[in-house]
Amino acid sequence: MKLTSKQLREKWLNYYKNLGHEDIGAVSLIGDGSTGVMFNVAGMQPLMPYLLGAKHPSGKTRLCNVQGCVRTVDIDEVGDESHFTFFEMMGNWSLGDYFKKEKTKWSFDFLTKELGFDKDKICSTVFAGNSDAPRDDEAAAFLVEAGVKKENIFYLKDNWWDLPGTVGTPCGPDNEWFYPRHDKPCSDRCDPTCECGRWVEIGNDVYMQYKKLEGGSVEPLKNKNVDTGFGFERLLMYVNGLTDGYKTDVFSSVISFIEKEVASKYGVDSETTKSMRIIADHIRTSVMLIGDVNGILPSNVGAGYILRRLLRRAIRHAKKIGLEADKLLEVAKIYIEQIYNESYPLLVKKEDYILSSIKAESDKFLKTIETGNREFDKVVSGLARKLEFMKKNNPEYVESAADHCISGKAAFRLYETFGFPIEMTIEMAKEKGLSVNEEEYKEAFIAHQELARASSQVAKSGLASSGEMETKYHTATHLLNAALKKVVGETSHQMGSNINAERLRFDFACDHKLSSEELKAAEDYVNAWIKADLKVTCEEMKKEDAVKAGAEHQFIEKYPDIVSVYTIGDASKEICTGPHVEHTSLLGHFVIKKEEASSAGVRRIKAILE
Ligand code: ALA
Repeated sequence: MKLTSKQLREKWLNYYKNLGHEDIGAVSLIGDGSTGVMFNVAGMQPLMPYLLGAKHPSGKTRLCNVQGCVRTVDIDEVGDESHFTFFEMMGNWSLGDYFKKEKTKWSFDFLTKELGFDKDKICSTVFAGNSDAPRDDEAAAFLVEAGVKKENIFYLKDNWWDLPGTVGTPCGPDNEWFYPRHDKPCSDRCDPTCECGRWVEIGNDVYMQYKKLEGGSVEPLKNKNVDTGFGFERLLMYVNGLTDGYKTDVFSSVISFIEKEVASKYGVDSETTKSMRIIADHIRTSVMLIGDVNGILPSNVGAGYILRRLLRRAIRHAKKIGLEADKLLEVAKIYIEQIYNESYPLLVKKEDYILSSIKAESDKFLKTIETGNREFDKVVSGLARKLEFMKKNNPEYVESAADHCISGKAAFRLYETFGFPIEMTIEMAKEKGLSVNEEEYKEAFIAHQELARASSQVAKSGLASSGEMETKYHTATHLLNAALKKVVGETSHQMGSNINAERLRFDFACDHKLSSEELKAAEDYVNAWIKADLKVTCEEMKKEDAVKAGAEHQFIEKYPDIVSVYTIGDASKEICTGPHVEHTSLLGHFVIKKEEASSAGVRRIKAILE
């Protein structure tokens, strides 16, 4: 290795710190909701207010960092050598400070002088102009001045960057940097616009001087800013003379581990190699998303659904190449313990939580994947049989795309009954040369949702969705239940529960309004248990054994024969489906906000974690 991942991060930060930049560190991978973008997709995302003109809290106008990003638009590209769903972006910014002259030079110098890129091979693309903004001759001139060969500069109308799906956000023409993976052009016109795979974008300097308005037009900003992002994994690959990002030190030990486990070599069979890359990429992103400060868990909506897709796709590809699903935990461990232990220390702290969350999702999916696969095969052979039948009975029959298309209803059944994300069914179909009727799938999905909504009164569960906050509230609910038994007495038991990311609501049997002393005592119990950092453990057992062991339960007849029992130190034991935090100190401070009557003999408490 000429340069390790750690050295490259340092090189970037030192280079820009020497040019007067402040290292502002990285923020959470999960978007804060302010822009409507689910994940942090670019280093500039948390800096939006400052690019729009607000003063940065550091007081500085030159900033830099290395920021983890998650982009899932390219998820289908993952499997080649240079696309990743999680990647690190090395960034630097000018907030109304320097502009094109300095930026073109610094980017070029960093590539050539610091990293040893061949100056004659570096290509740069600039904005070709449109009715909103002029052709960027200015940047092109500075690029030549900086050292880029004139013939290596290309004007493109797509060279414009903004945060997709947002308005009121900063944007502007950009200057993208490209480098060839090898010296064999596919044709005379093999330039950065070519899709033969030779050209990889390694970085982007955005001249953010406009604000995006409703309807797509722009207005000039007060400040002329620069927003730079260079692809960490891609630079790491080139710097080490590689053409494959999975051979760099952020992946290589994972790839070696998989190679050993499945006894096949990476890079020999293209399908196996693709599966290895998908596993390596998707498990890495899953580890990062679960282990983030605002970590998430797999679910059927929003960011949780993306995480579920990543994990399930990784499981499918693991099965495909003969890697046992449990080995994915080993893959996760390599990332946590060996690759990111220094740059992402929070992962180490949350290791048990990350591993058990991956295991829970994998166990759940493994229960249905085999039957789901068989069902899928049946659908595929059904299509073939039907086509054969049509042809046999009608010699004039003209084959059409519809003969090779899986119905939306079948795809919905695979989702609903076997937990196959639609994108996974589409991928599996593609491998067989088939398509999926996605419109019909959507219709089936919506119809089902409406049906579910109509009957939801019956099935309302206490758990609204399974983000990390909800998980915490779930555990806090068990503690509150136990605390109330101490304060009110054993007759106080759970009558209902509802949790969202903001609070818990707990209904319990009690014949009187709780006094402020009683409320304070219940709060104190819960906070003492939190402080004692009790371990939360889960055990599967027969329903009658759980009852014998004194586990709390509601509607015992509704549980399956084998149940999960969650024990929190010596404070609580309850039959429950989880999820829960691993130990109580993760909960923070517990505060009861409200106590009121719910119905006769039932009181209701609303409480929060601070
Ligand atoms: N924000 C720019 C990008 O993500 C640097 O490409």
